[in-house]
Amino acid sequence: MDLATRPWQGADMAISSAPTRPLAAIILAAGQGTRMKSDTHKVLHPIAGQPMLLHVIDRAHELGADRVIVVVGARSEQVEAAVTGTDVEIVHQAEQLGTGHAVAQAEAALAGFSGDVLILYGDVPLVRTETLARMLEALDARPEARAVVLAFRPETPGAYGRIIGNADGAITKMVEFKDATAAERETDLCNTGLMVARAPELFGLLRDVGNDNAAGEYYLPDIVMLPGAGSIFTEVDRWEATGVNNRVELAEAERHWQTDRRWRFQIEGVTLIAPETVWFAHDTVIGRDVTIEPNVWFGPGVKIADRATIRAFSHIEGATIGERAEVGPYARLRPGAVLGEKSKVGNFVEVKKATLGKGAKANHLSYIGDAEVGANANIGAGTITCNYDGFFKYRTVIGEGAFIGSNSALVAPVTIGAGAIVGAGAVVTKDVEADALALVRPEQRAKPGWAKRFRDIMMAKKKGS
Ligand code: UD1
Ligand code: CA
Repeated sequence: MDLATRPWQGADMAISSAPTRPLAAIILAAGQGTRMKSDTHKVLHPIAGQPMLLHVIDRAHELGADRVIVVVGARSEQVEAAVTGTDVEIVHQAEQLGTGHAVAQAEAALAGFSGDVLILYGDVPLVRTETLARMLEALDARPEARAVVLAFRPETPGAYGRIIGNADGAITKMVEFKDATAAERETDLCNTGLMVARAPELFGLLRDVGNDNAAGEYYLPDIVMLPGAGSIFTEVDRWEATGVNNRVELAEAERHWQTDRRWRFQIEGVTLIAPETVWFAHDTVIGRDVTIEPNVWFGPGVKIADRATIRAFSHIEGATIGERAEVGPYARLRPGAVLGEKSKVGNFVEVKKATLGKGAKANHLSYIGDAEVGANANIGAGTITCNYDGFFKYRTVIGEGAFIGSNSALVAPVTIGAGAIVGAGAVVTKDVEADALALVRPEQRAKPGWAKRFRDIMMAKKKGS
């Protein structure tokens, strides 16, 4: 994989020539996916914290598709629930009779639609928007062509459908592995499954596709061999064509996605000391001159502003990290953590649904949940916000510049005023006024010489026994 020449992936990519005709995307997701051995539908298994199908839907929307149709069948209720709110239409394929049959199920929904149709697979989640744009351009440039098929050359062509094509990109034949002759199996040019065609023509052709083949299925690629116009192929790097059928391939797809995203962040000005050990989510946003040390994990919903530092072994999700803030090593930021500019969250500190103001610090061994910490407040080692009584959650408010002594328990709901000091080891159950000192601990007593006398007595006893 030549990373240096790899173009951008994702939403910020400028599509040079946006499609001129209306575009509909049909995403196939009706299959059983039995090889996942899962109670979750295959296309809902996540890559970078987002179901595969939603990656594919995002690409269709980035491309400017006017209509996005998802073909569902097996476990349709799961798939329908997962796409709620994503601006797609659902079409049902009651029986899985093949990819051609699956696409044909969208015919009624697209009645009267005269634009291009892009066929995507819910289980081919890594294809880039730019590649899809290239397929549309190829169809645009060749009005005489019936379809543009996305081809690739896998390391082991295995059971993929084969494309018999010539050097100028024309397709002579498409054949499924099961139906291919030994000579046809020799070719390494394979079908990714992805295709673009023109709506009125496509559905007409699909009506002529039969199922007289080794699988007894209606094959989508068969439209290419029907009499009339020819079709063309365009090739793509094999990593983009990665299909997911089992958990091994799922991990492989994750690896490709992460490799690509690490590369992209580095090109955009993020320092990754050991890129291969940092795991991003699909929506991680990172500013310029951010440094991320080794072994950091990001869940969904993280935004990091410029010049922040994330130290090793931190686990971060749903958090917003301000400019020049420092996190970790070994920090855990959970959803709703908002760290202000130059704030610090140090080792073994967990922050959940809590805001730290500018310059606030919690450097060691703390839990800060359901809290608001004012600017420049200092949270001593071992401080815990006791936010839960087993039934409800309560808030802790700490004013600007307050100082919380080590090993304090702040029993919420409770407010510590600005500039107040809480002495170490306190169990604070009542509000503390601004600029006050709160001491909650038994007074210290000292007995001069007691320890020595004690030792002398005990030693004498031991000798005598
Ligand atoms: C298909 C292609 C093959 C290509 C391979 C790439 C056909 C006939 N074969 O084979 O040329 O190399 O993909 O991965 O198109 N689906 C439905 N309804 C159906 C059947 C399938 O929605 O009735 C969906 C599946 O959920 C899946 C996709 O279509 O997302 C591909 O189906 P699958 O059965 O995996 O096709 P392959 O045999 O892998
Ligand atoms: Ca497949």
